[in-house]
Amino acid sequence: METRAVYPGSFDPVTNGHIDLIQRSAAFFDKVVVSILRNTEKAPLFTVEERMEMLQEAIQGLKNVSVTSFAGLLVDFVEQIGASVIVRGIRAVSDYEYELQMALMNRRLSNKVETVFMLPAEAYSFLSSKLVKEIAQLGGSIRGLVPAEVEKRLCDKFRI
Ligand code: PNS
Repeated sequence: METRAVYPGSFDPVTNGHIDLIQRSAAFFDKVVVSILRNTEKAPLFTVEERMEMLQEAIQGLKNVSVTSFAGLLVDFVEQIGASVIVRGIRAVSDYEYELQMALMNRRLSNKVETVFMLPAEAYSFLSSKLVKEIAQLGGSIRGLVPAEVEKRLCDKFRI
């Protein structure tokens, strides 16, 4: 039977660390659905549509990967689309506590959904969307940390 996985997140914006994880997931699962949370309380820099466009461009060539958005409970969305796995990345031990809490809560909400933690390449273990935005806003170089299109959009946002 086909194993479908959901890789959820804010992706505000997508980084090379996220892309690394998408590629690893695509090699491991039959189908990967990258899904952006819509009803966030956080004030995002990019709209959901902008984030989807950047992700679409980043996954070009990965035939078993699609991009979508979701609102409400993640486990409900996972079940609705017939998936059984949630993929989350762990960069360092500091990520683990929050990820463990979410994974166990999601397991409590649905015992049909399993969370799988994956490790990005070491080169991205320090990388986050938050830091990338901060560096871009302050005029630092983010080359090699995000796709070229994302770099351009960040520069446009901050009018660098
Ligand atoms: O990239 P992020 O911001 O770390 O992603 C967090 C995300 C989207 C995975 C998480 O906030 C989430 O799943 N939100 C949906 C609402 C939900 O299901 N909450 C209960 C999680 S235990």
